[in-house]
This record gives sequence, structure tokens and C-alpha cells, in this order.
Amino acid sequence: MTPLIETKNLSKTFISQGKSICALRNTSLSLGKNETLGIVGESGSGKTTFGKLLMGLFTPTSGEILYRGQPITQKDRQAFQYIFQDPYASLNPRMCVEDIIGEPLHFIQACGKHERQDKIEEVMELVGLNPLQKKRYPSEFSGGQRQRISIARALITRPECIICDEPTTALDVSIQAQILHLLMQLQDELGLSYVFISHNLAVVQYISHRVGVFYKGEVVEENDVSTLFQTPRHEYTKELIQSVPKVISPVMDTLPVS
Ligand SMILES: Nc1ncnc2c1ncn2[C@@H]1O[C@H](COP(=O)(O)OP(=O)(O)OP(=O)(O)O)[C@@H](O)[C@H]1O
Ligand SMILES: [Mg+2]
Repeated sequence: MTPLIETKNLSKTFISQGKSICALRNTSLSLGKNETLGIVGESGSGKTTFGKLLMGLFTPTSGEILYRGQPITQKDRQAFQYIFQDPYASLNPRMCVEDIIGEPLHFIQACGKHERQDKIEEVMELVGLNPLQKKRYPSEFSGGQRQRISIARALITRPECIICDEPTTALDVSIQAQILHLLMQLQDELGLSYVFISHNLAVVQYISHRVGVFYKGEVVEENDVSTLFQTPRHEYTKELIQSVPKVISPVMDTLPVS
């Protein structure tokens, strides 16, 4: 079956203060419909660069991105949304929740006032927020609720794929578990695909179907999640797994048993 998204030898070099930095080298990965591709790797290994290339926020230096088997176009990118790490920094404090959540609609489709209201209330309910609170400001919500606002904002355009860049890292452990559970539930209900970027191996293991391990801008290993964790092939992957005690973190203990 043709994957939803496929990258072929995707590379990105930045020129900064006269020096070139190869942030990503020959990355070939694929993501199917209804699937989660976890991306792990240390700081600076190119994870965010990969996500931003998929989003079209960076132009590749070389290589290509295919969407349903064809080179991706600007229009195809309407099927992508993203959620960032920090729900405190990524929401505009001067906008009320309904304006934050409704904002992506401006870029995608013409939509009347009532339709817009309905869509906003619908996604607020989907992520477990009370639509009666739509006139409130981000500062009136907790960290976990703010991340739900970010998720609602991502969902409002009905994307096929959401790029989640460290979406739970800034949250308390028990709240992380709730957000992960919500993302998985939304995946089941809406048939979403996720690229899920995280430092936290336990989180990636929990949420992903397949995992790509990034090391210094390269994918050193990619496999389905159970094979990767049971029989890691690359030294760096082995090190990563060994560095997490039994690959169990406090997050896992608070996750609902499925
Ligand atoms: N806009 C940019 N201009 C110049 N260099 C950049 C830019 N964005 C990223 N880089 C460099 O590219 C490399 C990869 O960065 P990237 O942000 O993709 O790493 P990361 O794996 O997401 O790290 P972290 O886990 O800390 O978020 C780093 O060396 C970084 O300094
Ligand atoms: Mg990053």
C-alpha cells in the first residue's frame, strides 16, 4: 500500500554565520494512514528539522517528500497540522480560546460565522474542553488544558497527519499520560497519522507503531516498535534503551492499561 507520507534521501543544510550545518542527511522514512511514527534522538539530532520539512516550514536542500506516492504540493500540506512542545509559549496570551482554535480556518477554507462556531465547539468537545469556556484566555487554563487547546487548534482543519514535536515534555507526568491517551483515542476515532517526536523513549514506545532513531542528523535505525525495543541493531539505539531503566518511566505507570 502506498504510504501517506514518504521521505526519500531528505537532507537539510543550514548556513549560519558563514558555517554550514548539516542538520539532516539522507533521511528515508515512511508513515502510513492511522499510524504513528515515533522519532527519538538526542538534542540537535535533527528531529524538529525533519518535522518542519514535512510541514513545509523549511525547504529541503536535497531529497524529496512524497504524499500518497506523489511529490508533495503546497495544497497537500493542508492535510498536515502540528503541535509544539510548550503549551505556555505556543498560545497567544492575548487571544481568547475560540480565536486561537479557529485561527487555522482562515488559512484553509472560507467558512461562515455559525459554521465556524460549530466547528470550534465540536473540536473543544473532542479534546475534553468545555465549549462554554471558549471566551476565556490561555492564562485561565492549566498546562494540560492548554495542550488540549493546541490539539483542538490542530484538529479544526480535519488534518490527516499531525506532527507532534515533544507535545508532553513540558507537562507533569500524570498530565503527560492524559494527553498521550487523548492523542491515541483521537487517532482511533479520526483515523489520524502522527509523527511523534520525543526525547522520552518510554513515551515513544507507548504511542508509536514504528520508530526512527535519529543520530547526528541521520536515521541510524528504523523498525516496528516491538522489534526495535526487543532487538535493537544499532549501538546508539542499544545505548538509548539501556539508559532508560527497563524502558519504564513514571509516565508508563500512570497510563491506562489497554
Ligand atoms: N533555522 C536554523 N538555522 C540554523 N541552524 C539550525 C536551524 N534549525 C536547526 N538548526 C541546527 O540543526 C541541527 C538540528 O536541530 P534540530 O532542532 O532539528 O534538533 P532536534 O533533534 O529537534 O533537537 P532538540 O531535541 O533539542 O529539539 C542543530 O545543530 C541546530 O542547531
Ligand atoms: Mg527539537
